[in-house]
Amino acid sequence: MSKDKTINYIHFETIDSTNTWAKNHASILDPHKITCITAKEQTAGRGRFKNQWLSFPEKSLCATLYFCVPKNSSYIQNLAQLLSISCCKSLTHFGFTPKIKWPNDILLNEKKVAGILCEITQVEELSGVVLGIGLNVNVDQTNIEQINQPATSLFLISKKEWNLEKVLQNLLSYFLEDLSTLESKGFQALHSYYEEHLAFKGMPITVKNGDKQVSGICDSISPLGSLFLKTKEDQKIEIATGVILNS
Ligand code: BTN
Repeated sequence: MSKDKTINYIHFETIDSTNTWAKNHASILDPHKITCITAKEQTAGRGRFKNQWLSFPEKSLCATLYFCVPKNSSYIQNLAQLLSISCCKSLTHFGFTPKIKWPNDILLNEKKVAGILCEITQVEELSGVVLGIGLNVNVDQTNIEQINQPATSLFLISKKEWNLEKVLQNLLSYFLEDLSTLESKGFQALHSYYEEHLAFKGMPITVKNGDKQVSGICDSISPLGSLFLKTKEDQKIEIATGVILNS
C-alpha cells in the first residue's frame, strides 16, 4: 500500500509507552499515512519478550511508527528487521559503525544502542503496524549502569551530544525509502545490506527460542530474514524467531 510521504506527528511529554498508546488508539489514526508518536519520557517502556525498556528523558529517543499494510502481507515478519536496517544506515550516516544483532537489535562496539518492538493490530481489512524504536542517544554512563545488559549510547561513543530531533528525522528519511523498497520488492532487496551488517557472523552463538536453546556458528540470513546456524555436526538449522544470548 503506497503511503502519503508526509508523516503525522504526535508528541507526549510523558506517556506509559508510545507503542501501548499507538495500539490503543489505532482506530483514530489515519490508515493511509505514517504516524510518528514520540515521547520525552516513557514510564512503562516495553521491550521484546515482555522485557522492560528503560529510557531517560531528553536523552533517549522513544518513537513508534504506526501505519497500515494489507492483511497477510508477506513482509509483515520483516518490518522490525527493516527498521533495524534504516537505523543502521542512519547511524552510519552519522559516522558510527553499527551492527545488527539478529533479528533487530542495533549494536555499537558490541553493546546495544537501540531496540525495536513490532506489534500488529487488526484494523478492519488492514493490519496496523506498531513499530517502536528506543535509541540511546545522549544517555550517560550513570544511566547506562541502570540497564541490565551491556548497553551504550551515541554520546558515550562519540563524546558529543546529539540533537534528538535531527537523529529522528534522519532515521525517518531512511525508513520511508526502505519501507517502499520492502513493499515493492520484498525483503530480498534488503537482504544483502542486512547480512553485511550482521553481528557475530562466523562466531559461536546460542539462540534461545521459548524453552529451547541451540548453539552453533552464526552462519547467514535466509532470503526471508531467518537465521541460519551451523551446528557441530555441520548441519544448517533455520531459526525464524528467538534471541541471541551472546551479549
Ligand atoms: C527491545 O529491545 O526489546 C525493544 C525495545 C523497544 C523500545 C521502544 S521505545 C519506543 C517504543 N515504546 C515502547 O514501549 N517500546 C518501544
